Amino acid sequence: MEYVHYSVMKDEILAHLIPPEDRPAYMVDCTCGEGGHTYLFLSKYPNLQITGLDRDSGIQQKAIERMKEFGSRFTPENIWFDEYFKNYDGPPLDLVLFDLGISSYHYAESERGFSFKKGEELDMRLDKTAPISALDVVNGYQEERLSDVIYKYGEERYSRRIARAIVEKRKLSRITKSDELASIIYKAVPSGYRYGHIHPATRTFQAIRIEVNRELDRIEPALKGAIAALRSGGRIAVISFHSLEDRQVKWLFKGLGEGDSPTIKILTKKPLIPTDAESKENPPSRSAKLRIIEKL
Ligand SMILES: C[S@@+](CC[C@H](N)C(=O)[O-])C[C@H]1O[C@@H](n2cnc3c(N)ncnc32)[C@H](O)[C@@H]1O
Repeated sequence: MEYVHYSVMKDEILAHLIPPEDRPAYMVDCTCGEGGHTYLFLSKYPNLQITGLDRDSGIQQKAIERMKEFGSRFTPENIWFDEYFKNYDGPPLDLVLFDLGISSYHYAESERGFSFKKGEELDMRLDKTAPISALDVVNGYQEERLSDVIYKYGEERYSRRIARAIVEKRKLSRITKSDELASIIYKAVPSGYRYGHIHPATRTFQAIRIEVNRELDRIEPALKGAIAALRSGGRIAVISFHSLEDRQVKWLFKGLGEGDSPTIKILTKKPLIPTDAESKENPPSRSAKLRIIEKL
């Protein structure tokens, strides 16, 4: 089987997340994906058990296949990470990893319309049973709501023009394909914006995906749940890829790590970022930020 995702900041993650080696140790990889990070940990630490969460059963199948050699040391769970921690009753955790967002698999293989470069049906759901897909957002949301989503989750300055163009187009016929949506956006923005360093549809596609999967609503409850599940001295590492995510992580950690009775110690006053060599080798990693805490 081919694994298409490049796991970011591997060295930094391994340097800061070190399980005790004199007893069974427990880790939850909250965003297991194809299991790039999980594979490294299971290979390195024979006493480590990892539960790998992913709400996407398609990508999870790839991780299950990849982790076969580790037998019962790997347990997959097809669940949203915030849901997982709601009723956590497992052993106190030594390590927790979040590598937020979606994987290269989603663009390259999922056929769910994540990529504006492909002509796929607009879906973008990680959970195939979820009630709302990208089709519903693009064809069903009122113009103002659509514009708000694109502005808030895409930080797209032409959100109004883009939402207007989408609404005009769908009056004629439903917008069903990702390349069709990309072309509407391309035509809606000023010509100078079409030739920037990212495709003009990038931010809108990101926004719709975040809305469909309610990605930003899940981070804070999951982090709180993960901290509660951690043993004292246990660590959590969070890799985020855009400022909306990083801001949430930063402020939650600040709130719990400062003041008279802190419950966590912040190990990264400033987030760690990929080395120049990594950014060069894997350009999408350029925007990664890594924050790490330890439970007191
Ligand atoms: C960036 S990828 C992880 C890549 C992985 N660390 C690796 O090295 O192969 C993020 C994964 O988390 C999943 N995911 C995103 N948000 C999630 C959530 N709230 N709950 C569960 N899974 C989630 C996505 O389906 C995706 O497969």
